[in-house]
Amino acid sequence: MPTQQSPKLKNLATWFPPIESVNMTETAVGAHPTGSRRVDQAPSDLVFEAHGVTKVYAMGDVSVHALRGVDFQLRASEFIVLLGPSGSGKSTLLNILGGLDLPTAGRVSYRGRDLSGADDSTRTEYRRRHVGFVFQFYNLIPSLTAKENVALVTEIARDPLPPAEALGIVGLGDRMNHFPAQMSGGEQQRVAIARAIAKRPDVLLCDEPTGALDISTGIVVLEAIERINRELGTATAVITHNAAVSAIADRVVHLSDGRIAGDHRNSRKVSARELSW
Ligand SMILES: Nc1ncnc2c1ncn2[C@@H]1O[C@H](COP(=O)(O)OP(=O)(O)OP(=O)(O)O)[C@@H](O)[C@H]1O
Ligand SMILES: [Mg+2]
Repeated sequence: MPTQQSPKLKNLATWFPPIESVNMTETAVGAHPTGSRRVDQAPSDLVFEAHGVTKVYAMGDVSVHALRGVDFQLRASEFIVLLGPSGSGKSTLLNILGGLDLPTAGRVSYRGRDLSGADDSTRTEYRRRHVGFVFQFYNLIPSLTAKENVALVTEIARDPLPPAEALGIVGLGDRMNHFPAQMSGGEQQRVAIARAIAKRPDVLLCDEPTGALDISTGIVVLEAIERINRELGTATAVITHNAAVSAIADRVVHLSDGRIAGDHRNSRKVSARELSW
């Protein structure tokens, strides 16, 4: 490997370890029922591939069908927005992609490696190494500063961004020593984003990241997410109830009653700064 690398190349080398350094079969992320298709046969820019994914929650005598046969793909560096009514299955899909939950049936793979059959420890390792999550509520530790909240993650990550650099990317370089109670909601959410990206994840999964914020604060948070996608090439999925936000995505996916009801590419993508709602 060359000793002089641009930061972006260095990031890529970290996120996509040389193929020989990972187990070459799909058993690298859980066993695959049909055998051992090699990782290097997967289309190289396909991050997620889901086929016929269903999720049924059994609640006593009642079964809740959260997903009813979802086919979905996400490519490297792609920025998608997921829209749909409450209860349509958006969070369920994101949680399955992020390895927080398993489908009832169907198949989900991450870079050609099966996630749907992966055991708990494999999925934990997958989440730890490759996935950054951002939720509506920031889940910061109140007794730790912004920098310390980010450092909690970087201490257990391989080759992370220094916490100060991650906070700089989200525009909080000057607030590193502030505690959550000393920051606005938008600033706290940006700390949560810095925490999510500090381990240089391959994918950033955001579930209603602006749900608790006013318009102008929400736009600043979306600017941070779009900058990470643009400058670091992190494949990004953002769930929102706000249809206006879909204008900043490369692609917009609509869910309805557990099914994909629409999937279109924006012919013109606008920047978060241009949004109004
Ligand atoms: N852990 C669970 N146990 C039982 N039912 C669940 C569980 N999680 C989700 N559901 C149900 O699955 C369906 C889809 O839920 P999901 O949270 O994915 O919807 P959503 O599109 O994210 O909605 P919202 O916009 O309100 O967040 C809903 O009917 C929900 O009640
Ligand atoms: Mg949800």
